Amino acid sequence: MDVMTAVTTRRSEHTLQDPAPGDEEFSYLLRGASAAPDHGRLRPWRWVLLRDEDRDVLGGCLAEEAGTVGEQAERIRAKVRRAPLVAALVFAPREGKIPEWEQLAAATCMNYSLMLLLHARGYGSIWRTGALTRSTAIGGLLRLAPGERLLGTLDIGTADAHTVRNRRPLEDVSGLITSFGELRGRGADKVPAAAGAV
Ligand SMILES: Cc1cc2nc3c(=O)[nH]c(=O)nc-3n(C[C@H](O)[C@H](O)[C@H](O)COP(=O)(O)O)c2cc1C
Repeated sequence: MDVMTAVTTRRSEHTLQDPAPGDEEFSYLLRGASAAPDHGRLRPWRWVLLRDEDRDVLGGCLAEEAGTVGEQAERIRAKVRRAPLVAALVFAPREGKIPEWEQLAAATCMNYSLMLLLHARGYGSIWRTGALTRSTAIGGLLRLAPGERLLGTLDIGTADAHTVRNRRPLEDVSGLITSFGELRGRGADKVPAAAGAV
């Protein structure tokens, strides 16, 4: 699959089933994804993989933290069981001269690369955030170190052939591009005083 096809046919898949990549295949794909732009090559991220009953521990923890029991708790647990592989993405910013926002951008580039590689190999995925990312209990469960932050989970598996969603038609985003020549025509070469301070 060429890159343009991969980018334009990938969709976030909400319904995922077996198979999901095994640990070795995940590791292989991550090696590829880690070629994403990363200022300083800091690798400011790590993954925790949850499969089978491990997912129930996560779901149980969320349900308990939300103070739910019975059916409500089961609904929360079921949400975490929606994919055979739940890969928790931990942001682990490093000390030094690279600003944290750049490290977050690097982690995001890596995650998207992984999503594309999974898609090109026939797997589906969806990046989920929500309550999970705000939960202190989940942070404890995943042994987040001080300064680390959970960016959510990448739920991975195989999309059911009947639920695979067609890509939306690509939008015309040309309105988001401006040529600098056009700005100059509007007097942009007269640099405002504040711009010099950047
Ligand atoms: C940072 C981030 C967080 C997201 N969190 C959720 C989420 O919590 N639940 C969800 O259903 N989708 C989530 N998504 C997926 C988006 O909803 C999805 O990418 C968007 O609807 C566009 O669909 P597409 O990926 O199929 O193009 C998230 C995406 C990103 C980039």
